[in-house]
Amino acid sequence: MKKAWLPLSFALLLSASSVMADDDVAKFQEDSRKIVKEMMGQLGSKVQSEMKANGPVATIKVCKDIAPATASDFSRKTGQRVTRVSLKVRNPLLGSPDAWEQKVLMDFDKRLENENPANMEFAEVVTEPQGKYLRYMKAIPTQDVCLKCHGTPDTIAQPIKDLLNAEYPHDKATGYTLGQIRGAISIKKPL
Ligand code: HEC
Repeated sequence: MKKAWLPLSFALLLSASSVMADDDVAKFQEDSRKIVKEMMGQLGSKVQSEMKANGPVATIKVCKDIAPATASDFSRKTGQRVTRVSLKVRNPLLGSPDAWEQKVLMDFDKRLENENPANMEFAEVVTEPQGKYLRYMKAIPTQDVCLKCHGTPDTIAQPIKDLLNAEYPHDKATGYTLGQIRGAISIKKPL
């Protein structure tokens, strides 16, 4: 009789801890959504307003300086790593995905067949050599305004092409069309 109890309580313990993990992921996902919404809201409106007021050359700084600075701000404020990543990067130093991020980005591209990228996200607990992490990614859809610097050759003006060629000789972040996934915001929190 006693023997039978042991595995049962063990099983209960196990299921209790997996319920805990589900709750953790749900709460983390909720918090991450808020971070992404705020961040994409800030950046999206800056790109739009700068483009309208000063044109594409001046707008480069929003994607080049303001976006990474905003991600660092959110990292500092939340104590979690917040970054922008992509499968086709312009700046490999900042935007290259790790193995988990690559897998999720490839999955996002597949999900694009029957899902709206505006709502596309993924979260899970990941065990890495350094420990366990809560990880979250939210797809960044390519909007009209992005095409001026990330689109096909016919959508990118010559001065921008010249600038990109000079500053990013290894640029892979062009050739996108409206609605494709430009990349993702990735959030990583130690458990
Ligand atoms: C005026 C030009 C310009 C526009 C418009 C623009 N970008 Fe960028 N984008 C850049 C540059 C330049 C970089 C490289 C930044 C760096 O040096 O880290 C970049 C980098 C990025 C990255 C980081 C990954 C990478 O490729 O290195 C993402 C993600 C991104 N852009 C998304 C967008 C989205 C989404 C839009 C539209 C809302 C957009 N960009 C509009 C110029 C632009």
